[in-house]
Amino acid sequence: MNDKKLNVLDLFCGCGGLSKGFEQAGYNIVLGVDNNVSALKTYVYNHKGSKSLNADLSNPDTFDIIDDLTVDHKIDIIIGGPPCQGFSLTGPRQFDDPRNKLYLAMIETVRRYRPKAFLIENVPGMATLYNGEVKNEIIRRFTEMGYNVNSQIVCSADYGVPQIRKRLVFVGLLKSCEKFEFPEPTHSPQNYVSCEQAIGDLPSLENELGEETSNYSISPLTEYQKKMKGNCSVLHNHVAIDHKPFVKEVISMVPDGGNYKDLPPGIGESRKFHMAWTRYCSNKPSRTIDTGHRNIFHYKYNRCPTVRESARLQSFPDDFVFLGNKTEQNRQVGNAVPVLMAEAIGKQMLKYIDEK
Ligand SMILES: C[S@@+](CC[C@H](N)C(=O)[O-])C[C@H]1O[C@@H](n2cnc3c(N)ncnc32)[C@H](O)[C@@H]1O
Repeated sequence: MNDKKLNVLDLFCGCGGLSKGFEQAGYNIVLGVDNNVSALKTYVYNHKGSKSLNADLSNPDTFDIIDDLTVDHKIDIIIGGPPCQGFSLTGPRQFDDPRNKLYLAMIETVRRYRPKAFLIENVPGMATLYNGEVKNEIIRRFTEMGYNVNSQIVCSADYGVPQIRKRLVFVGLLKSCEKFEFPEPTHSPQNYVSCEQAIGDLPSLENELGEETSNYSISPLTEYQKKMKGNCSVLHNHVAIDHKPFVKEVISMVPDGGNYKDLPPGIGESRKFHMAWTRYCSNKPSRTIDTGHRNIFHYKYNRCPTVRESARLQSFPDDFVFLGNKTEQNRQVGNAVPVLMAEAIGKQMLKYIDEK
């Protein structure tokens, strides 16, 4: 059956948000490569039909290992989200940061396999970094290799993800006279999926911490919840953080969608920055899920979101299980490309690529 599907190589695959979206769009994921052991464990657990490789993509020897592991397949598509810390507006913004050079791994593999198409995902700040020099350089290198490249900043909420997460995405098509058009949004601010619509069915954990695996106690209430739950009968990764009583007390004073500005004078002053004591807003999508800072709280309960709640806000289905300790799980979720956004772009790419 996989013979009819287009074969994908995923670089910097992390736990596999991008891979999962492409799998849902109908692709066959051949191999995921990353150098983070716990992310790869999660990747392997959830992508049973794919191979995985724990290797450093800045080491040229890695490409020979990738050759060996993919020898039985023609690689049709290469996808990847090179780490963005160096490019990030919150990072050091160093052009020479070795992490910025990791996009060269994308260039090297595209050069070797000449896939029908490629996709690179990165933070939006990269579009304007050094007056657009970095972005233009990427486009120039792939154009020289025969690809027609388009790039756009896309917002995950536009594709049914209950989260405002903007990402710069490049898509290149080999020997194409057409430029890739990004998919039309399926949602607009009037009908964005909200936090409550996304996670409102999950147990409160108010008087318990929960367990790594437990049984569902209630049924999904919304279309989005039904979609995420699918046929999954076990609730994974829904474990609360054991906050100190004073943290719970302070957060209990913040209303739905509020933040430190809503606290009485003298309360919560241990955390003083613009995001301090923020609660998600129940009737809006969440802000960008990060890799695990403990400053954002559930819209209703006096605790941080669990890994499962964050995974729902990233549109991971409930049967996608996160492995590793809680810090690692949160990092995997926060690093991922939202699954439904990846699926929407993957489906759109299919329209431009010949059927096998
Ligand atoms: C933004 S995350 C990718 C998320 C992934 N695309 C997803 O959707 O789940 C970047 C990944 O690059 C990996 N990484 C960083 N440096 C690397 C290197 N030198 N070689 C291989 N992987 C690396 C990190 O471990 C991390 O998982």
